[in-house]
Amino acid sequence: MIADRPGLMDAVRSRFAHVDACPFAGPRIYFENAGGALHLKSVIETSAAFAGYPDNQGRDNPASAAMMAAIDRGRSDMALFLNAPGGRVFVGESGTEVLFRLVRTAALGAPRGGVMLGSTLEHPALSSAMARWAEVTGRPHLMVPHDDATGTVTAADYRARLSPDVRVASIIHASPVTGRVVDLAAIAAEIRRVAPGALIIVDGIQHASHGAVDLSAIDIDGYALSPYKMFSRHGYGVGWASDRLTACTRDQLIGAPAGGWELGTRDAGSYATFSDVVDYLDWLGSQFTTEDGRRARIAAAGRAIAAHERELLRAMLEGVGNLPGLGRIAGLRLIGGAGLEGREGVVSFAMAGRQSAEVVAFLGARGIRVHQRKADHYSGNVLRPLGLADCVRVSVCHYNTLGEVAELLAAMRDLADGA
Ligand SMILES: Cc1ncc(COP(=O)(O)O)c(C=O)c1O
Repeated sequence: MIADRPGLMDAVRSRFAHVDACPFAGPRIYFENAGGALHLKSVIETSAAFAGYPDNQGRDNPASAAMMAAIDRGRSDMALFLNAPGGRVFVGESGTEVLFRLVRTAALGAPRGGVMLGSTLEHPALSSAMARWAEVTGRPHLMVPHDDATGTVTAADYRARLSPDVRVASIIHASPVTGRVVDLAAIAAEIRRVAPGALIIVDGIQHASHGAVDLSAIDIDGYALSPYKMFSRHGYGVGWASDRLTACTRDQLIGAPAGGWELGTRDAGSYATFSDVVDYLDWLGSQFTTEDGRRARIAAAGRAIAAHERELLRAMLEGVGNLPGLGRIAGLRLIGGAGLEGREGVVSFAMAGRQSAEVVAFLGARGIRVHQRKADHYSGNVLRPLGLADCVRVSVCHYNTLGEVAELLAAMRDLADGA
């Protein structure tokens, strides 16, 4: 675990900006990582440097060569991070825009007819793209219902709704509301078994900061990331498309080289800041493995991150010292159940007799930043079936500490005691 290695947690935290203080509100514990993870200091430096470079790609001068080298390195780091077999990585406007582009390309590229299939667990970035392009292409948009009690969806749930005429299928890798991860390999395999020709698009946005991504053994066609939720910055999204999806016709300049996904001049700094993230994971992984190779170290970092976060979530649910965990506070209802298994980075809850906004404000006054999710178009798919108007979301990353969790639990105990 990161905390067990002498000096490592300090070394980790020193690499991030605004770890224990907000530039606007002062000292605070950051438990709003599902809204946007902390950003690496290296990302800030790289962004500033690239913002100052005037040169464009494709010119015969050293600055242009440097831009193209940064883009090439960023692309290969994106592919390495995903461990993607072939296909193309590309940068878009945001995670949402990348998902719309992947879904649109799949829906327009798939043979006519058939159906599109997603699940009720999805973030609207994915389900809205599926709904829109199902409507435009004249296909029914079918939904696999997720399980309200566990807050997840399984391969068996998909099996019940699958038919050979599924043209496009969508999967959310982890829910930003329930915090539950799905068995992506099993769901994708089930879809392939029944509908081998389906194009499968995955929203990896909530999962990506909580452990390694490894698409090498998972047969899908599209995967989306939001760099600001994985230690980089706002302003771009990252997509991966399989060779099969890349073969579909899509928006491109007439005469442009085949296989391209990007439109117009890209910000070379976005690629460079993704490389900063991979450099960081490479360094973190090197603390846990002596294996050679950047991918092996990224995978080791993913395992270390998952193990550390598991202990944070265990403490949050079960307690630390004599502080009761959230699972033991009377009147507190955990979204997706109290189990630790299959939980990634998020604990959401509703408190009987208290508005979630009140809880968020109480914790904020104690210097603990969390977030309220409402039963609106973002989280209503999860909260409405539970009869909840809102919930409080606490979200961690690997740079959070057990001490920070203890402060949250102490504040929650005081709130529950009516302090
Ligand atoms: C699971 C998931 N998908 C998609 C999105 C949208 O990503 P972006 O803000 O990059 O458009 C979010 C943002 O919260 C998310 O959590």
